[in-house]
Amino acid sequence: MKNNFYNKSLISIKSVSKEDSLYIFEMADKLKNEVIKKGKTNDLEGKILAALCYEPSSRTFSSFITAIQRLGGGFIPLNGMEHTSVAKGETISDTAKVFSSYADIIVLRHPVVGSVSEFAKSATVPVINAGDGSREHPTQAFLDSYTIGKHFKSFENITVGLVGDLLYGRTVHSLSLLLSKLGVKKFIFISPDLLKMPPEIVSGLKMLNCEITESESLDSSIGNMDIIYMTRVQKERFSDILVYEKYKLAYILNKSLMQKAKSSSIVLHPLPRVGEILEEIDSDPRALYFREEMRNGLYVRMAIIKSILMQ
Ligand code: CP
Repeated sequence: MKNNFYNKSLISIKSVSKEDSLYIFEMADKLKNEVIKKGKTNDLEGKILAALCYEPSSRTFSSFITAIQRLGGGFIPLNGMEHTSVAKGETISDTAKVFSSYADIIVLRHPVVGSVSEFAKSATVPVINAGDGSREHPTQAFLDSYTIGKHFKSFENITVGLVGDLLYGRTVHSLSLLLSKLGVKKFIFISPDLLKMPPEIVSGLKMLNCEITESESLDSSIGNMDIIYMTRVQKERFSDILVYEKYKLAYILNKSLMQKAKSSSIVLHPLPRVGEILEEIDSDPRALYFREEMRNGLYVRMAIIKSILMQ
């Protein structure tokens, strides 16, 4: 398989093909085996990754830092920009030039839609989008698709349920597009009317011949889902806190709902959860968010970094 990632930024799933995804999944498998056997590789010895998070992050930040270490490289870890010159007013374009001088690759999370693409125009090294506002989170889509691929023989015959804040949730935007490229044909979108999947994403999926069902009821749809992908209502995107309070617990996955779900279904969540999956679900063998999904993020991000930095 060909490496189409070499020396390129990863800003959007729009630029990724099915073959590109399979390339990453295969490399993630290999790196997982190496990590299990030896803990690390020296593939990227001498390479430096800068992780710049203008918005809070636990998983994405830490897994990228761990990934570069397990590949033998070093890192510049900035989880929060308040102690950098951004606090003095340095522009995004100048910040891109600064960190391009020190790092071989930059991982960027930023609250503004389109900011990662703007940053990448001024950077002289590849940039990975670790979340740009409510638009996209491509590496999360890779790790979620990788996890799904481990549980189902093919993507063609599964029904993917995406539940919660589909308007502001960037993970579901990237994930639905990547899964459609991998062959998924049936999606069920569950959200309050106010937080529906953006129409341009729905129409894009329909153009790829996907069947989309939109509903406000998880209870009546959960039995049809192979993937139950829960999401948090994105408090930080709401200008009116009262609106957030109204919708924050629109869907709560509990034992009685899981009794209606298929025994072969799996439950994923990009995390953090803030009440939409009860702890009583964590021991259900179908619940993979702590058991597999997060750890897969390490292997998949190792594969993405390595593909960008090594031909
Ligand atoms: N899934 C995810 O992006 O988690 P963090 O916000 O903790 O990075």
